[in-house]
Amino acid sequence: MIDLRSDTVTRPTQAMLDAMMSAKVGDDVYGEDDAVNSLQRHTAEMFGMESALFCPSGTMTNQIGIRVHVQPGDEVVCHELSHVYLYEGGGIASNSGCSTRLLRGDNGKFTAEQLAQNINPSDDSHSPLTRLVTIENTTNMGGGSCWDIASIEGIREVCNLHGLRLHLDGARLFNALVATGESPKRFGELFDTISICLSKGLGAPVGSLLLGTKEHIGKAHRVRKSMGGGMRQAGYLAAAGTYALEHHVDRLREDHDKARKLGDALRGLSYVREVLPVETNIVIFELDDRIDSDHFLDHLIQQGIRALSIKGKTIRFVFHLDITDAQFDKVTGAIGSFR
Ligand SMILES: Cc1ncc(COP(=O)(O)O)c(C=O)c1O
Repeated sequence: MIDLRSDTVTRPTQAMLDAMMSAKVGDDVYGEDDAVNSLQRHTAEMFGMESALFCPSGTMTNQIGIRVHVQPGDEVVCHELSHVYLYEGGGIASNSGCSTRLLRGDNGKFTAEQLAQNINPSDDSHSPLTRLVTIENTTNMGGGSCWDIASIEGIREVCNLHGLRLHLDGARLFNALVATGESPKRFGELFDTISICLSKGLGAPVGSLLLGTKEHIGKAHRVRKSMGGGMRQAGYLAAAGTYALEHHVDRLREDHDKARKLGDALRGLSYVREVLPVETNIVIFELDDRIDSDHFLDHLIQQGIRALSIKGKTIRFVFHLDITDAQFDKVTGAIGSFR
């Protein structure tokens, strides 16, 4: 099967498995796992941040990232299509006891002006206290779109003006870094906390990191424990992450190229109504009214291709390191032969 449902479906390469097998491990709950410590140190340095914490998933690093900034009764501002709001099991409410203020905007992004208009006055005891803003880069439901750094700087300014914290869901931040040429250190300067995932485009089997100040990560350590996310000889997994950061970042360009070519091919097909701009490894498009999405997905399955309907006639393809050039050609052939 050619699996384009997500970039989370990749399997570790033999070289990654070899790196995992030779990891120097210890009990990470006691802070004694060399491979975890080295991954945490290396990633914090890469972003110019003080500290990092290895966790089992991006959901956990986001949820802990939110929790360290807020109190129950506070409000978190995010995009209406953001993962932290839509796909983390209502965690903002259940883990942090916060309400959520949703902003709209193209491709999963919003502006500094919108943010400024959605901050509750801090001296009004009727409304929740706006405390935290989260953005997603790249935006998953926004079609893998990248934020430009000037927009983030504008949002940071509004946060500074109103004493708000800023968290980044960077599940696919490395896709954005490769696509835009921005440096990790600039992101480290702009955000209070950053979550990055190793198990999406980077191809590790498990693992995410939360980056922040020593104080935030100290607090995060306690929250991770309370969520059951303290792992013991986690270095076997961390070693896969270290391998991924060393070997799988530059190659993300190949995924972006395939996605862009597929987007171009889809735009020329009569049964496709709209394709979101393709900036990284995600292609989101809408089928024409006449087309039933199950019928389209069944056609792909018959050609050995899996894709996802994210809502009704909206289909998502995600490119990743397990898709070869020959498989890409097969996908192009399959979308071309759909009637
Ligand atoms: C934008 C974004 N954030 C966070 C996550 C959560 O990651 P995980 O599946 O590791 O919990 C995902 C997962 O697909 C995602 O797409």
